[in-house]
Amino acid sequence: MTRLAGKRALITGAARGIGLAFARAYRAEGATVTIADIDLPRAQDAAAGIGAQAVRMDVSDPASIETGMDDAVAAMGGIDILINNAALFTAAPIVEITRADFDRVFSVNVAGTLFTLQAAAKRMIAQGTGGKIINMASQAGRRGEALVAVYCASKAAVISLTQSAGLDLIRHGINVNAIAPGVVDGEHWDGVDAFFAKYEGKAPGQKKREVGEAVPYGRMGRAEDLTGMAVFLASSEADYIVAQTYNVDGGNWMS
Ligand SMILES: NC(=O)c1ccc[n+]([C@@H]2O[C@H](COP(=O)([O-])OP(=O)(O)OC[C@H]3O[C@@H](n4cnc5c(N)ncnc54)[C@H](O)[C@@H]3O)[C@@H](O)[C@H]2O)c1
Repeated sequence: MTRLAGKRALITGAARGIGLAFARAYRAEGATVTIADIDLPRAQDAAAGIGAQAVRMDVSDPASIETGMDDAVAAMGGIDILINNAALFTAAPIVEITRADFDRVFSVNVAGTLFTLQAAAKRMIAQGTGGKIINMASQAGRRGEALVAVYCASKAAVISLTQSAGLDLIRHGINVNAIAPGVVDGEHWDGVDAFFAKYEGKAPGQKKREVGEAVPYGRMGRAEDLTGMAVFLASSEADYIVAQTYNVDGGNWMS
């Protein structure tokens, strides 16, 4: 279990959920890991449990990206892998979407993805050793959804950025690819469930049950269902994979 031995990885939004599962899996594969999250106390707790380190990073703030990246690179001695995992969810009918909510979500999900990717790529290019960048997209980026316009658009943008950055950075030996999960149980989906309870009049937990039953595989995803793809895309086995977005969703979407 050492497919990432000697590799140095920074994972944003890894204080909990899918990012933390990635951090755990990367440690198990021999990587040095920095958890970069806006919630520093929780990131520190999470990091202590798996032999990683934590830095504070708000991916919506360019200065915070630079400081967090510098701290991580200084501590790890460089950076070989970035997972752009931090994101916010929001939902509202079209006629209720506010500019403030749009800006809040796009500044994390889209600008955060682009400028964290840029900060890591600059350092990887300076190192001259190539690298692997993985963006977290979503099945929500594959098609629009009533009530979820802003989040869906932000994840469609992540798929597009993955293509453009992938095509640009491969000449530096940096592979940029993305993972599109379906519905993954955890605190994130507790929040999603609450939005649907509000807008569709569902009982708490009902939407979650329904989406789980609708997955062809037969249940919601677990964070651990995604770690195989995250390890693979960060490993040398994925050297010839460029600008792709992989669905890991129990069969929800085919493309
Ligand atoms: N859970 C799902 O069903 C699902 C489905 C598809 C895609 N995804 C994507 O997978 C990724 C991880 O999802 P999750 O379910 O683990 O989410 P989560 O909400 O459980 O965790 C998100 C993490 O990001 C951090 N964060 C929020 N804003 C930040 C900021 N500005 N800067 C730095 N960190 C910030 C939070 O503190 C938290 O630790 C996200 O990109 C999400 O959109 C999740």
